[in-house]
Parts: sequence; C-alpha cells; structure tokens
Amino acid sequence: MAEREEWGSRIGLILAMAGNAVGLGNFLRYPVQATQNGGGAFMLPYFIAFLLLGIPLMWVEWSIGRNGGKYNHSSLPGMFQVMWKHPVAKYLGAIGLLISTIIMIYYTMLVSWLLGFSFFSITGSYSQITDLSQMATFLSEFQNGGGTFFSSMWPAYIFLILTLFLNFYILSKGLSGGIEVFAKIALPLLFFFAILIAIYVFTIGTPDPVNHPERSVWNGLAFIWNPNFSLLGDSKIWLAAAGQVFFTLSLGMGTLHTFASYLKPKDDIALSGLATASINEFAEVILGGTIAIPIAVAFFGLMDAQVIANGGTFNLGIVSMGVIFNQMAYGQIFGFMWFFLLFFAGVTSTVAMCQPLISFLEEEFNFNHKKANLVVGFFIFVAIHLVFFYQKFGFLDEMDYWAGTFLLVAISLIEVIIFAWIFGIDKGFAEMTTGADIKIPNIFKFIIKYVTPLYLLFILSFWTFQSAIPTLMMDNVKPENVVYLWGSRTFMALTFIGICIMVNIAWKRKQKGTNF
Ligand code: PHE
Repeated sequence: MAEREEWGSRIGLILAMAGNAVGLGNFLRYPVQATQNGGGAFMLPYFIAFLLLGIPLMWVEWSIGRNGGKYNHSSLPGMFQVMWKHPVAKYLGAIGLLISTIIMIYYTMLVSWLLGFSFFSITGSYSQITDLSQMATFLSEFQNGGGTFFSSMWPAYIFLILTLFLNFYILSKGLSGGIEVFAKIALPLLFFFAILIAIYVFTIGTPDPVNHPERSVWNGLAFIWNPNFSLLGDSKIWLAAAGQVFFTLSLGMGTLHTFASYLKPKDDIALSGLATASINEFAEVILGGTIAIPIAVAFFGLMDAQVIANGGTFNLGIVSMGVIFNQMAYGQIFGFMWFFLLFFAGVTSTVAMCQPLISFLEEEFNFNHKKANLVVGFFIFVAIHLVFFYQKFGFLDEMDYWAGTFLLVAISLIEVIIFAWIFGIDKGFAEMTTGADIKIPNIFKFIIKYVTPLYLLFILSFWTFQSAIPTLMMDNVKPENVVYLWGSRTFMALTFIGICIMVNIAWKRKQKGTNF
C-alpha cells in the first residue's frame, strides 16, 4: 500500500476543513431557509441545533475519522468496521460513500453555473437586464438552452467541463499539494470578497428614500436578526434549522471523516473542530446573513424579498442579485466578486465530496492516486450528464432530497449510535480528547450519548411522516416528471449497489491479511 498522505500544516488543515464546510449552503441556502422560516424566528432553533447537533457531531466525526486513519481507513465503511465488528457495519458505511458521491454529482453542476455567472458579470452579458422576470429567463435559457439570450446548452456545458476539470486537477495534486494549497488561496480570497460586499451592503442604506422609505438594508437586517419567539411552536422551523446545520457543516456526508483520517493519532480534534465550525458560522450567519436578503429587501421590499426567497436558492442568489448588481455603482465588479466567491466556496466543497471515494479506492483496492482519481473523475463525468440534461424534470431535486437531506440525518444517527453506544461513550470520549488543545466540557458526554441521538431520532421520525413518505409516493409530482424521478432513484440505487459490491469484494480480498 502506498504511503498515507498527510496534511502539510495545522492552518492548512483548518482551512481545508473550513473550505469543505463553507459552500453554497452558507451564502445561498442559509438566507433562503431563514427567510422561508420566519427570519429572526429561525435564529433560536438554529443555534440550539448548532449546539446540540452541530458541535457534538463535528467532534464525533473528526474522532471517527482520526481513529479510522490509525487503521488505514479513510472512508466510512472501514471506519465503522473498526468501531463495530459486526459485518453489517461496513455496509452502513457504504451509505456514507453514497451520500458524498451523489451530492458531488449535482453540486458540481450548481457550482458551474456560478462560474458561468462570474464570466457573464465581467463581460456584461446580462448588464441590460433590469427586471426579475427577464433575469429568470436569462438563467433558465442558460441552463436549458434556446431562446433570446442563449441559443444552446453549450455555454453551460463548457462551464460544467471547466469546473469538473479544475476539481479533478486539484484532486490530482493530492491532499496537501492540491486540496490544502487550493484552500489556502480560495478561502482568504472568498472571505475578502464577501467582506467587501457586506461592507458595500451597509453603504446602500435606503436606495429610494422618497418613494420607498421602508425598503432599506436596515429593515432587511432586522428581519433576519430580530428574534421572534412567537413562531417557536412551529415544528417546521425546528426541522429546517436542523437540516441547515447539517448541510452547512457538511455533517453526515463522510467528508469530514475522510479529511480527519489524515490526522496523526495525537493531533488535536477539539480546538480544530471548533475552529472549523466557527469559521463556517461566521461565513454563514454574519456574511451569508448580511448579503443576499438585506440587499433584496433594500431593492424590492420585504414582501417581494420573501417571494424571491420562496422561489428558491438560485432565484435569490442569481436572479435577484443579478438584477440588483445592474442597478448598483460598480455592479459589474461586485457581481463578479459575488459569483466568483460562490464558485470558490463551491469548489473547496466539491473536492471534499470526491475525496472519500478516491480514498476508498486507494486504500481498500490499492489503486494508486492517479488511477483512483481517473476512475472517480470518469464516473462523475458520465453521471453528471444525467443531471445536466434532466435537471429541469426534477432529477436533481430527487437526489437533493434523499442524499442531501434525508440520508444525512440517517447516517448521523447511525454514527452517533456506533460511537456512543457500540464503541462506547467512555472510549469515544477518550479518543476525542486525546491530544486536545482545549478541554471539552464533560457535559458533552451526556449530550453525545443521549441528547444528540434523541434529537436525531425525533427529526428523522418527523421527516419520515412529513416528507419522506409523500416524496416517496410522489405526491404532487407532475405526471411527465414521474419517469425522471424513477430514473433518479434507479441511478441512486444502482450506485449504492455498486458501492456495496465493491465493499464486499474489498473485504473478501483482505480477509486473510487483515484482522479488524
Ligand atoms: N457544507 C457545504 C455547503 O454549505 C456542502 C457540502 C456538502 C460540502 C457535502 C461537503 C460535502 O455548501
């Protein structure tokens, strides 16, 4: 087996971890979720989920990862197996590999749209557009081809290939030479752009004080920030807040584990994990909360900003922001900064999503880095055509629901049970605090053993009845889309079966040599 890779430096590791976590979730998904769930009413459930799910699971995932690394396992099947000797453990881990791989496929396409819009901002391609519906047309013609602004899907395809290429180029350079180096460039740059835009937002104030004195940045900030306790009885808000915490911190996906597996057995987890989570929250609540919604309220008013956010992540992030940039001084430059920061935030996440499968092939199949990279790259290249062509029929949304929402919580419940109940909380806590640079309060033992699993169980049961069953039964699906949704499910099922078969083969081969 090849020499295990290592992180170059602690700061590099934290930036790579933060790059993994900071993504479109922070700047696009968060404002939309907060707006759809009552603005300030979202805050309290969000922070509670962060404290009781986010932080504990962050530490748990780093611990599972670092522990797996000791036994040369950088992906979930092997990591679960060393903590739980039962033969089923490795197949539960296969669910983790499925999640990161599926998310990778659609997320790369979303990221490529942002590369496209960075380019369109600089070249002024949409600079004449001043109303939302025209901008929405621009976006949808870009995505689907045909119409007045675009005549085919080629531009979108070219940006997709460029994004894929950059992604696998970074991965080909390895952990410290690729992912870490890129994170060291991308993260500071994206923070710099985001802070500049956030400061700019504050200077906008009330763009049209005569006709619309209520349309101001301040009203937007008040909407996002002022706590509103009257809606706390609504379970929907609690579930959405937990879902957002998962997505934004990259929990339940196997990617944090994989990154942590390249730590040395006595490297700190406690402080580094907390630092990663804090950087992510700064990017999310402070920067993500200050840009898209307040600026939309200033230009369109609170009511319309809510309508825009209800239209979805890209309706806010691309359509509304695009129109606003066209009305701002230096809009072309700010537009470029906005889309490019999103692009960079996205790429530091997509490389993280690919790494578990690459590490799996390297470690369980003895592939060299180049071969593992090529195989994963080829698979993603082929699969991405499905989302590229069928996105408009709901193919992507189906993936996002199962892999990007439901299964994350399921796998987190599984991992916390393996960690706290099967491996045992005392052993687990000892693993977590080995080499720790800060003291983790003992109360977290209790939280990880009881509170986090119960919280997860509650969310999962609620979701099962509230959305998983209706989604499974395809309630409210347009009849013409049914076949595509089945296609999406079949694809996910086949990918899962494929991963399970690979796990099975790898373990059979190793049976003689290795004792777990
Ligand atoms: N956390 C990332 C975001 O906020 C998304 C992500 C998902 C990253 C899966 C890595 C793995 O956008």
